Amino acid sequence: MKVLVIGAGNMGLTYAEGMADSPMLNKHKLKIYDTDPKKIKSLREDSRFDVYDNLDDCLPKADIVFVAVKPYHSDGLFEEMKTMINQSQIFVSLMAGVTIDTIQEKLEASKVIRTMPNLPAQVGKGVTSYTESKEVSRVELIMVRNLLDTTGTSIHVDTETFIDASTGISGSGPAYVFYFMQSMLEAALKMGFSAYDSKVLVSSTFEGAIELFNQNDISPKSWIAKVASKGGTTQAAIDSMEDNNVKQLIQDAAYAAFDRAVELGKED
Ligand SMILES: NC(=O)c1ccc[n+]([C@@H]2O[C@H](COP(=O)([O-])OP(=O)(O)OC[C@H]3O[C@@H](n4cnc5c(N)ncnc54)[C@H](OP(=O)(O)O)[C@@H]3O)[C@@H](O)[C@H]2O)c1
Repeated sequence: MKVLVIGAGNMGLTYAEGMADSPMLNKHKLKIYDTDPKKIKSLREDSRFDVYDNLDDCLPKADIVFVAVKPYHSDGLFEEMKTMINQSQIFVSLMAGVTIDTIQEKLEASKVIRTMPNLPAQVGKGVTSYTESKEVSRVELIMVRNLLDTTGTSIHVDTETFIDASTGISGSGPAYVFYFMQSMLEAALKMGFSAYDSKVLVSSTFEGAIELFNQNDISPKSWIAKVASKGGTTQAAIDSMEDNNVKQLIQDAAYAAFDRAVELGKED
């Protein structure tokens, strides 16, 4: 199968690196197309990829095309692409907020899969949500899911509303975790720990808590109840968070990202 990634930025290159060794490529090298001459030069040194600076040479022959440019570049790109595509090709968009209808209309394509990627794909721990236009067959959907899974895991959702909703949870979510980490790092530094020790304390705490969560079938709420004894230190911290409505604020933040994703889809 011939797979082309358009746009070798943060996301495009991350997914390209994940997919490069997939047995689904059947010995075809993963194709990458970008417009930045510097990026093209450095990518050509990577033997895993066939790198192109001209759409004519790679797009017509591709079976699956990942589109990973910024949403504001998509109109110009689709205009250029539309004379070179055919209706059997599958287009997988990694772009936030660009709807399947918009892609079908502007690209004049029928088989479109819209995804919401997330940054931990860079270390093989990403989660990608995806949904498809009705023209995509079950077999084609499974092929694309197998490619997405090379960067971590994926979940299929029934409607694009869930793509926007997953923006609020997994797409933007790594930043919420980093926000929490940064807050704890700053608290550790204020308490007098060195930068190194603060980092170890915080990262080990996150890693340990995630491992406990993954290895047991216990909800975070039950873990809190296990850790926080009445009148103890953890309970003091949890009481402080509850008094300050932190849970509600985090949910509000997730909804703010969800709402923004919906807005971006309408801004076209
Ligand atoms: N980064 C994230 O965490 C994240 C999360 C979820 C979704 N996404 C989505 O992923 C997409 C890509 O984001 P990114 O952060 O990877 O962007 P990025 O780093 O800017 O990468 C986009 C790449 O595409 C190139 N490009 C621009 N126009 C092109 C064209 N017409 N043909 C071919 N290549 C072109 C850009 O070159 P120039 O640099 O020369 O413009 C750049 O190398 C976005 O649509 C975004 O919504 C990103």
